[in-house]
Amino acid sequence: MAALLEVSDVTVRFGGLIAVNEVSLRVGAGEICALIGPNGAGKTTLFNAIAGYVPLNAGRILLRGTPIQDLAPHRIAAGGVRRTFQNGGLFGHLTALENVLVGLHTQVDSAFFGIVLGSRRSGVAEATASGHARKLLDLMDLGDIADQPAHALSGGQQRMVEIVRALATDPPLLLLDEPAVGLAPPMREQLGGVIRNLARERGIGILLIEHAIELVMSISDRVIVLNYGRKVADGSPDEVRADRSVLEAYLGHA
Ligand SMILES: Nc1ncnc2c1ncn2[C@@H]1O[C@H](COP(=O)(O)OP(=O)(O)OP(=O)(O)O)[C@@H](O)[C@H]1O
Ligand SMILES: [Mg+2]
Repeated sequence: MAALLEVSDVTVRFGGLIAVNEVSLRVGAGEICALIGPNGAGKTTLFNAIAGYVPLNAGRILLRGTPIQDLAPHRIAAGGVRRTFQNGGLFGHLTALENVLVGLHTQVDSAFFGIVLGSRRSGVAEATASGHARKLLDLMDLGDIADQPAHALSGGQQRMVEIVRALATDPPLLLLDEPAVGLAPPMREQLGGVIRNLARERGIGILLIEHAIELVMSISDRVIVLNYGRKVADGSPDEVRADRSVLEAYLGHA
């Protein structure tokens, strides 16, 4: 059976710089695959390539066996690849609920875009979407802050709302770019539990970029290490921890 996500020999260049160099990886349904490596290793660029934000110079990206590398970002999102952004992507002046609604609107078909046109039918769609978004926030224990503007939320709450927004359409694949950045350790643990449940209970495939190494090692099924755009290790957390090339990647020597 085709993997949920299959990245084959992907290369991305920015002028003379090879940001991602012949990288291959697979993520299965319900699997947590971490992508780690030093700053500038090419992790976010690989996310951008998967999500359709940067073109590939070589290689293929398949979602359930179907090539997606030539599709526009909104088509890839509609196909079930949702993401969060390294620097946070909430609209600060919108409420948590409205931010989750944005996640629904950017994906769901044109019936929802009727909302913008203000048709009566779309009024019903809006109410349905709003109820759905509120339920999702409730499920993540964020019901109390649903009507607060995003800028007034704590860093941890903002990260969670971002994840809820990415999840709003029940995507099979989730790309999380440093979701734990800036979170205190207890909040990190809570986030780890949420990510693990998404994979274990909902069968979502997760590709996780994260520098919080203890979080990565505790929840991931597989860890892939990038260095200067190249994959230098790929294995279980224990295998990767013991891998010499990983030490070299992080410390610059063996
Ligand atoms: N749009 C761009 N144009 C030119 N160079 C870029 C662009 N985006 C990224 N780069 C370069 O590509 C390389 C990889 O960057 P990338 O952001 O993918 O690294 P990263 O592994 O996500 O790092 P970090 O851990 O700091 O987030 C870096 O040298 C970066 O400067
Ligand atoms: Mg990055």
